[in-house]
Amino acid sequence: MRTLPALRAALGDDRPGLVPTLGALHAGHQALIRQAAAENEQVVISVFLNPTQFTNPADLARYPHDLERDVALAVEVGADLIYAPSVEAMYPPGDATTVHVAGLTDRWEGAARPGHFDGVATVVTKLLNHVQPARAYFGEKDFQQLVVIRRLHADLALPGEIVACRTVRDADGLALSSRNARLSPTERHQAAVLWRALFRMRTAADEGETDVEALLAAGEKALLAEPAVRLDYLAVVDPAMLEPLDQVIPDARAIIAATVGETRLIDTVALVDADLGM
Ligand code: PAJ
Repeated sequence: MRTLPALRAALGDDRPGLVPTLGALHAGHQALIRQAAAENEQVVISVFLNPTQFTNPADLARYPHDLERDVALAVEVGADLIYAPSVEAMYPPGDATTVHVAGLTDRWEGAARPGHFDGVATVVTKLLNHVQPARAYFGEKDFQQLVVIRRLHADLALPGEIVACRTVRDADGLALSSRNARLSPTERHQAAVLWRALFRMRTAADEGETDVEALLAAGEKALLAEPAVRLDYLAVVDPAMLEPLDQVIPDARAIIAATVGETRLIDTVALVDADLGM
């Protein structure tokens, strides 16, 4: 489906499960699609390389895209409809409306990529309105994005339910990401230190450490093993407002962003509650 009328005609009155993506699908996206297929009669995947959320034009230009491949990977795990609108369909001529989630978007990824979350919030609002899903699926890996989307969904009384899905990782723990394809073999090896740092922190928390300074010291120590990995931030935050904590609380999250070569990677882990968010 390329247009909203075509999508509406295909869906009729059905309220599907929706998995929004930028394309360049991998096993992480496929896990979301599988979960959506298990919980909904019909599953729509949106593939839309949203220009407004890219603050760096070079990042947008080199983002991989291959719709045929994405369709095959999505259908393989239970997608029924692929919604791949054009930029004009998403941003009609004269488009002048932006969704801005205040406060939550100031820190972390919002600080590193000014305007990024306005692009995400606006496109997700549009997609939820276009598709009118019963449930929409988002990954915990992009934890701040998930929190921002939950906020706008509640504030704007958008349709359906927001469902959070666990992070899918490679064998060495690196969270799957379309950006991993840009890493050289050396960088790919170095990148695994992000997860090692988070895992170290999580293990320390499991063993009873509640002092955030001590947890951060454990994570930073792990990062020393790969000096080529440039840390942007490592923090322990509350899961609702993403504010830094001094002491661990239930469901506190460790979040990390770092650059390996030219590639910026993010990851997160739930501390304390071992069932959530590996
Ligand atoms: P994209 O990066 O394509 O990711 C689409 C969805 O897949 C997001 O909800 C993301 O959190 C999830 N995801 C990515 N890697 C994952 C992994 N390793 N395990 C589990 N889930 C993973 O995030 C976006 O696109 C865009 O910002 C979007 C929400 C589509 C708005 O344009």
